[in-house]
Amino acid sequence: MRRRHALGLVASLPGCAVAQTQPAPAETLRSIARAAGRGFGAAVRADLLGSDAAYAALFAAEAELLTPEWEAKWVALQPEEGRFDFSHLNAIITFAQANRQRVRGHALLWQEAIPDWVKAALAEGPDRARGVMEAHFAGVLGTTRQHIRDWDVVNEPIANPPGADVPQAGDNPLRETPWFKALGPNYIEMAFRTARAQDATLRLTLNEYGIEESTPDAEEKRRRLLALLRRLLDKGCPLDALGIQAHLQMRKPFDPAPFARFLDQIRAMGLAILITELDVREPDTLAEGIPARDAAVAERVKQFLDVAVAGGCRTVITWGLTDRNSWLGNEPGVLRRDGATTRGLPFDEELRRKPMWQAIAGALRG
Ligand code: XIL
Repeated sequence: MRRRHALGLVASLPGCAVAQTQPAPAETLRSIARAAGRGFGAAVRADLLGSDAAYAALFAAEAELLTPEWEAKWVALQPEEGRFDFSHLNAIITFAQANRQRVRGHALLWQEAIPDWVKAALAEGPDRARGVMEAHFAGVLGTTRQHIRDWDVVNEPIANPPGADVPQAGDNPLRETPWFKALGPNYIEMAFRTARAQDATLRLTLNEYGIEESTPDAEEKRRRLLALLRRLLDKGCPLDALGIQAHLQMRKPFDPAPFARFLDQIRAMGLAILITELDVREPDTLAEGIPARDAAVAERVKQFLDVAVAGGCRTVITWGLTDRNSWLGNEPGVLRRDGATTRGLPFDEELRRKPMWQAIAGALRG
């Protein structure tokens, strides 16, 4: 197992296997956020918590909130109809309890990570689709209610406009997911009402991506999202928060003004704002040398988070903590074409703090 990591003391103690016993650095993103009345967290993987002590120690020290990267998605929780499996999620909940952390739920409805049986059931018509939704929400929320008080109920419901990385055909502002096809546009409201009926005090979040930068497609996607949120709230749909994923892309321009205006509009609706999946894709042409690259990433994060925090966001969650375990280095759809490792998270492959850590710390301090 690797021993070099950010908790320097552990690295200097050969043979020390339990990293948690070592004192953490005095200031962590967790402690900085807490001192400022804010929250910091990161997406986590149960398999790595169980196999990599340095990874586990880093999450214990730096994160107060944990989002399961896979363990609370449909395919993980109900791989076969009626057979629920909480073992992976429970590993994260147990870790969180030991370290006084909170766990976010991610995600009840999403067009990805759904098993084939769900797709087949949805194709059987609206009654069956509704039954499947209700049974999943009842099984999941009923079991996790003591530990998870905040769920992404609907993830990524807005269609990508023309010009987006993966545009959707047609001009439907809503993404034509299997849920949309089975239940029509009202599936979103149905999901929130079903979640609220299960648990009256759960915080219900709608989570979306591609709404951060100042490209025409992101502008249009913000417009579509605002229209959806207004429609839902006008109908009295239970909805508490907007999650902004913030998978930032440096090859796209970021302009604080339109994003700040968007946040104002969300806040005016009475919704809380969370940054739920922050990471950064570096530009196609990389700056010369690691220090310059890391400085550029940090600068983008600072620009973005300063606006988010000023706009009322109190919770910042990154999609992982270290470049060593980032989907940006694993997922075909987001891998760099030049083969370089994207340095898009606050800790490097050796779990050392990077300028992005400082940028997040500064924004959290406000
Ligand atoms: C990603 C995970 O990081 C990957 O490991 C997995 O293969 C696919 O999903 N938006 C989301 C997250 O809401 O659930 C996605 O997570 C990243 C994009």
